[in-house]
Amino acid sequence: MRIRPFVPNDIPAVASIVREALRENYPTSLYLDIHRWWRDGFLVADLDGHPVGFLASVITADGQARILMFAVTSGFRRRGGGSAMMNAFLQACAMRGLKRIELEVRVSNAEAIAFYKRYGFEIAGALPRFYTDGEDGYKMLKHL
Ligand code: ACO
Repeated sequence: MRIRPFVPNDIPAVASIVREALRENYPTSLYLDIHRWWRDGFLVADLDGHPVGFLASVITADGQARILMFAVTSGFRRRGGGSAMMNAFLQACAMRGLKRIELEVRVSNAEAIAFYKRYGFEIAGALPRFYTDGEDGYKMLKHL
């Protein structure tokens, strides 16, 4: 698995990971906007030319990044792809001199919460009814 920057040709594959792993549907323009805002913060895990995971982020405030979407397609989890993307992302944040990373996660998403804790993120607060289906979220933070 190779970690590389996102390119617009990845949109169909990334959108299908989003549908399958995050159960969301976004317009093509969203991926193009994220890419335009901060190229180094949009990474793809590529297996033989096929994206099997991605991490999309933005810079939200002075010195702070926010992970918007992060997923590995279900058949390829627990093989280190998420870690490889997170490590590359942490490096991009360091290169940019960022001090803090934030994200939101569903309270029921034990797998992702375990992953993020392993990478030094801590639960910083609850977000009541954060998701459109009414589920609560956690805000998680990591200081760099
Ligand atoms: N249960 C417990 N710990 C886990 C799990 C799990 N299911 N998955 C990963 N971890 C922890 C473990 O410590 C693991 O190390 P180990 O396998 O040596 O025990 C470590 O994280 C690293 O795992 P990776 O193999 O590098 O991670 P993976 O490639 O599986 O990707 C990810 C992790 C992206 C969270 C994946 O589980 C996924 O795609 N989940 C579905 C989508 C999702 O929930 N994304 C996050 C939503 S929040 C947001 O997008 C901002």
